Amino acid sequence: MTSRVIPVAPFTLTVFGATGDLARRKLIPALFHRDLDGQIPDDATIIGVSRRALSDDQFRAFARQALSDHIPASELEGPEVERFLARLSYVAADADAEAGWAELAQRVSAFPEHIPVYYLATAPHLFGPICERLGKYGLAENGRVVIEKPIGKDLKSAVALNEQIGRIFPEERVYRIDHYLGKETVQNLMALRFANALFEPLWNNAHIDHVQITVAEALGVEERAGYYDTAGAMRDMVQNHILQLLCLVAMEPPASLDADAVRDEKLKVLRALKPIDDQNMAAVTVRGQYRAGASAGGAVAGYLDELGSSTSSTETFVAVKAEVENWRWAGVPFYLRTGKRLASRVSEIVVGFKPVPHSVFDANVGPIESNRLVIRLQPDEGVKLWLMIKDPGPGGIRLTHVPLDMSFAKAFKVRNPDAYERLILDVVRGNQTLFMRRDEVEAAWKWVDPILQAWRSAKEPPRPYTAGTWGPSAAIALIERDGRTWLEDGA
Ligand code: BG6
Repeated sequence: MTSRVIPVAPFTLTVFGATGDLARRKLIPALFHRDLDGQIPDDATIIGVSRRALSDDQFRAFARQALSDHIPASELEGPEVERFLARLSYVAADADAEAGWAELAQRVSAFPEHIPVYYLATAPHLFGPICERLGKYGLAENGRVVIEKPIGKDLKSAVALNEQIGRIFPEERVYRIDHYLGKETVQNLMALRFANALFEPLWNNAHIDHVQITVAEALGVEERAGYYDTAGAMRDMVQNHILQLLCLVAMEPPASLDADAVRDEKLKVLRALKPIDDQNMAAVTVRGQYRAGASAGGAVAGYLDELGSSTSSTETFVAVKAEVENWRWAGVPFYLRTGKRLASRVSEIVVGFKPVPHSVFDANVGPIESNRLVIRLQPDEGVKLWLMIKDPGPGGIRLTHVPLDMSFAKAFKVRNPDAYERLILDVVRGNQTLFMRRDEVEAAWKWVDPILQAWRSAKEPPRPYTAGTWGPSAAIALIERDGRTWLEDGA
């Protein structure tokens, strides 16, 4: 089965931070893949910008290396590699100085009929200065700007940044990336909910017992420790990715998939989150930090060792019992957890249904387990619906819990595109559905800020957990107090 490819309109994409990690690992490979599939028009062009003095050819050599580091050699054998590299050029420019900007303006204006896109793959403190220079050099007109998280470190700084960007680019041309929204299975969550008549009638507190959202990583913070220590798991993962997943599970059906229709519904969910502050923080949140342990069969260092410091109160793990206070969800807990150096890399959403109201079976047939819908984002994307069935064979009825199991890799023999492939082209298409609107980002901070504040005032260090486990035991207690259990691996 091949994917349907609809070419986008011609564009000039300027990538700031073009020699950085994001460009190397994600953006360049993503653009190449779209080019390989014939989705990028012939005259589309990509301009790399960073402070380093590089010639066009040196930048192309950098991009060639990025491709061979991140794309299987078999996909790099055809003439497409040269065609892709020929699209690239480079300008050295600094966000804080004038040099290079006139040249950039000249190169962009050489294609007046193109859609100008500016991707800010830089440190966040440069977002504001770059936008201002884009304005000053006349580049913002008609231009679309793409920014990455973190968007601020709290509500106040997010508002300030949004204001600064908003002075140059109107909201309908600002694309705030949350790459989780570009993941195949996250999109599938919308398909599952809104393209099937089966689930929506049950999608409420009359039938759903609870929801779990787990985004577990096996890796530690490694060379990102410097950034990570200023953020922690709450800012790095919960404020954005996990809350976005929660919104997609909990939102009302939008009237259409128009960007604002979807984002209006997500915003309502964020605004309905029950506040967590000094009063309830201890009962509904757990923070942890990993100590040395084992991962993938080898010994691994603890967070402090990776950080190279003897002390830090940054959390590398968070578990939260969240609640959405509206008619649909009243009384349904949303258990959220994320962490580095956990037992395995698994991201999934588990929707746990209520038990049957009455059993017609004898007690000796075994317990009747509740139905569960498991939407697995990674590593092996798929959907499982756990049902009770009769154990086959004679000898009376015995019941067993089995999944209807739909693995995407088995069902569709296509490469699963990286989230960035979809998202970059959505910017060119002018489709903001999968990007966070300003008010969403600010509403998420409004919920997160009091939690961070409550943690600060409690002055309790994060609870230690051994690398390679599922986090601190308090996180297990958090859900077990309610008579429920964390589920991993779709189990
Ligand atoms: C990023 C976080 O946004 O998402 C990282 O900053 C995290 O800390 C990453 O590792 C996880 O993304 P993915 O796509 O690998 O699940």
